[in-house]
Amino acid sequence: MENSEIQGLYAEIFKRMSVRDYRPGEPDGVDFEKIEEGRKSLISLDGSTALLRVIPAEKAGVSFGHAPYCLCSYAKDDEARLKASFLLQEMSLYLSTRGFGSCWLGMAKPKNGFLEHESLPFFKLLVFGKAPGAHRRERVSQFKRKTLSEITDIQNCPKVLEAVRLAPSAMNRQGWRLCAEGTKIRLYMANNNFLVKKLMDPLTIVDAGIALCHLWTAARALGIFRASYKEEGVPHIKGFSYVWTIELTEFK
Ligand SMILES: Cc1cc2nc3c(=O)[nH]c(=O)nc-3n(C[C@H](O)[C@H](O)[C@H](O)COP(=O)(O)O)c2cc1C
Repeated sequence: MENSEIQGLYAEIFKRMSVRDYRPGEPDGVDFEKIEEGRKSLISLDGSTALLRVIPAEKAGVSFGHAPYCLCSYAKDDEARLKASFLLQEMSLYLSTRGFGSCWLGMAKPKNGFLEHESLPFFKLLVFGKAPGAHRRERVSQFKRKTLSEITDIQNCPKVLEAVRLAPSAMNRQGWRLCAEGTKIRLYMANNNFLVKKLMDPLTIVDAGIALCHLWTAARALGIFRASYKEEGVPHIKGFSYVWTIELTEFK
């Protein structure tokens, strides 16, 4: 993916929204080429490849607001699920730059025949297509989100952290916590209580992957990305679990 594309994804973070109503009918051949081009150009969190598949929604048996397509991810363990979620969100931003709306569907599954791909089990999907109305917001004030001080104590990195603050999450829970050490930013996620753990843990992984996608995209677009990795022995935060670290060259 070219730098100009990453700038485009970054700009999308401040406008995108979930679309729940779609124009029926499949995208034409030109649009479909753009979609596949985007899918192939995605950059992953750590250079690994993850499996995403574009499937006509009707074929996959996924019905949501007449959306013509769904984008399914396949992953075998929690780390692969995190990386797949990162890529799905990157694709969602890419689709938005090309005029497509999308919506994550946390509980949806494709039908038998699409539950496995290249020996990997299905994880999560989003639907996408052209919206009859707007697929973007006009102003940041239209996002319903926590304030920056509710998700972090970091004071001197507002541009990068704003991109995380605006990230979508399942039921808009926004369970992220961001901490700094030097020029590292660590992402933590709020733990789910034991009653809902089984149901919510996979969604928390998705929310973490989305937040990392926004963090990474902002860091790249602002030219301050240094590295992305998982650390051992990081400080513990009560009620939260550490997920991943993005290291910057400076804070902005
Ligand atoms: C993992 C995940 C699952 C979601 N599942 C659904 C869903 O099943 N149905 C739905 O209408 N929206 C779903 N959403 C969309 C969220 O409700 C939405 O992202 C959040 O309310 C913030 O709004 P925004 O995306 O318009 O900024 C999901 C979002 C995420 C990240």
